[in-house]
Amino acid sequence: MLAHPAGHSISPTMHNAAFEKLGINAHYEALDVPPDSLEAVVAGLRQKDVYGANVTIPHKLAVLPLMDALSEAAKQIGAVNTIVNEEGKLHGHNTDATGFLRALRDDGQFSPKSKRVVMLGAGGAARAVAYALLKAGVADLGVYNRTESKAETLVNDFSPLGAISHLPEETLNQAIQAADLLVNTTSVGMEKAGLDPKVSPLKEGNLPARGFVSDLVYRPETTQLMRDAMAAGLKVQNGLPMLVYQGAESFECWTGQSAPAKVMLNAAKTALGRARA
Ligand code: ATR
Repeated sequence: MLAHPAGHSISPTMHNAAFEKLGINAHYEALDVPPDSLEAVVAGLRQKDVYGANVTIPHKLAVLPLMDALSEAAKQIGAVNTIVNEEGKLHGHNTDATGFLRALRDDGQFSPKSKRVVMLGAGGAARAVAYALLKAGVADLGVYNRTESKAETLVNDFSPLGAISHLPEETLNQAIQAADLLVNTTSVGMEKAGLDPKVSPLKEGNLPARGFVSDLVYRPETTQLMRDAMAAGLKVQNGLPMLVYQGAESFECWTGQSAPAKVMLNAAKTALGRARA
């Protein structure tokens, strides 16, 4: 994994558990790659014994021009989170979108097809979620963001793929109440330096009347938004299944084998627990 700083990622634990489970002689590690070393490190991925890499903050956009080929998802989302070394040629993929969909369907038992969706946020994660949901054939996708201009840009970028529109503040409540699925892609509610994990990105009492709430935050395990939604009788999911399934999709791109998702989920939970201790 190419990151900067490499920090306390749970991906190494998750992928090494998967390699071990399938008896694959490979090792995954988090590399701290400062921006001025990115090109050289990416070039090194062309070596014979390298499957590829994950790419994360702040390199997801910067690696785009370093790829020999890009998947349709990586192109549309405008970011690469997975590099696959195919005999010296580097293919850039984005497994955040498919990871999100698998989490929703397999773990959440929720099918987004023909559903009404509201998405909060318009950053990098939001682009992958918007791509995934429009490809999955949602009835409509309303996008709300604190900074309106970013929501408008995202809507413009993705409108060729389906029914996506910008939700101004005045229409947010109404859109949320009518939604079958609400997705939080903002960092509000995260347990992180400088952030208050007790806040929800929604004003109190403002929740869908029915349906499903997916919060991409996974630290804390249960966010304030999820607590409010559960109290209102809604089904909820945190961001851990998406993290695990995007990893499973990357694993499958590298090895050509079906990823042991359960093993990866358990390893991710253990690593998260360790990070908290
Ligand atoms: P990521 O790659 O995780 O999506 P990002 O690209 O930095 O991260 O996007 C963060 C998202 O969280 C943005 O939509 C951001 O809103 P702005 O565009 O207005 O910055 C949103 N966000 C972060 N802090 C927020 C807050 N306190 N209130 C509302 N939205 C917030």
